[in-house]
Amino acid sequence: MSKIKYFSENLDVQSKTIILRLDLNVPLIEKKIQDTSRILSILPFLKGLIKKKAKIIIISHLGRPKGVKNNKLSLTPIYKFLKEQLETNVYFFMGDINEDTKSKFSYLKESEIILLENIRFFKGESENDDNFAKKLASLGDIYINDAFSCSHRKQASIHKITKYINESYAGPLLKKEITAINTIIENKKEPVTCIIGGSKISTKINVITNLIKNVNNIVIVGAMANNFLTFKGFKVGKSLIEKKSKEIIDDIYDKAKKYNCNIVIPEDGNVSTNFDGSGKTKKLNLVEEDEIILDIGPKTIKNIESIIDESKTVLWNGPAGYFENEQFSIGTMAIAKKISENTTKKSLVSVLGGGDTIAAINKSSNKFVFTHLSTAGGAFLEFLEGKDLPGLNVLK
Ligand code: 3PG
Repeated sequence: MSKIKYFSENLDVQSKTIILRLDLNVPLIEKKIQDTSRILSILPFLKGLIKKKAKIIIISHLGRPKGVKNNKLSLTPIYKFLKEQLETNVYFFMGDINEDTKSKFSYLKESEIILLENIRFFKGESENDDNFAKKLASLGDIYINDAFSCSHRKQASIHKITKYINESYAGPLLKKEITAINTIIENKKEPVTCIIGGSKISTKINVITNLIKNVNNIVIVGAMANNFLTFKGFKVGKSLIEKKSKEIIDDIYDKAKKYNCNIVIPEDGNVSTNFDGSGKTKKLNLVEEDEIILDIGPKTIKNIESIIDESKTVLWNGPAGYFENEQFSIGTMAIAKKISENTTKKSLVSVLGGGDTIAAINKSSNKFVFTHLSTAGGAFLEFLEGKDLPGLNVLK
């Protein structure tokens, strides 16, 4: 199998224009960055390119605007943060990407940066459109993907762009991520437990079917669990659910039986009629029509803790509840604490992934210890499944 081409420190990039695809998709509330981990993790590489006198054009997405401009999903707050962190000129480009864009960028000098506005404001991005990819590629000399967390997306700035530019490489953060995850997969010890939560249900639910073959336990928490509860006939009130998930879950239980994988879902929750304030613990057969399940309850936490105790490897992606409100972050924190303790005291191999999972644990004042903390969520799960990610495939 051909290998991924990594960016080499020896490559002379002085005066060359580098198109750098990053994942600056950070949680924002009213334009305030809630967690800067993803941005901080790419700063050393950016600073290195600045030192080497490259001209840098950064591309990132934020949220899922579906090809439509949306002020709430502008990269402006991220631009401001980058400007504060870097001792060079950083510009923000909010215009169209067309045949004239390259000439508009002629002001860019060595060691300077242009950040493009949210690339998903353009339809061509999500459609992996050839024309759009060609225009993007025409802006630079070298393309670097340092966004492992986006490499499962077949989108223009990740995938098609590589077709229209001479040199394409994977960046150092991407390299670090796949090296760490590969080492863990190769050396993983059983029992292996995978904890899956969070609110990005649509992409993750399909992943579960394929993970079943590789793990002993799959623990479903967060909004993801609502689908399983509905499947089992529980009423979940106004909680978030994915339409048409019945067939997928049917398949999940069938495969779980075949491969002897234990599927664990919550038995109690912390529920409320709104996202603010506090909730109350309830058995999940007692959820009222106007209530939302916002966290896992104490019985579920205990059960998950004992599963972690019996595991030698734990992979975790997605918070157990609406962690943005501290009242509903109890489940997430309990899981983090248990995994961290066992990583230190019982040599548990632990890998955490996902922007929200990292944002959730960063909110805690506790210092947690894990074997590897991945910036990636969906990409991390698909990589674990053994899938050839489109964004990595084109770098080979
Ligand atoms: C992530 O947060 O996992 C990445 O930024 C990818 O985002 P997406 O799931 O919207 O493609």
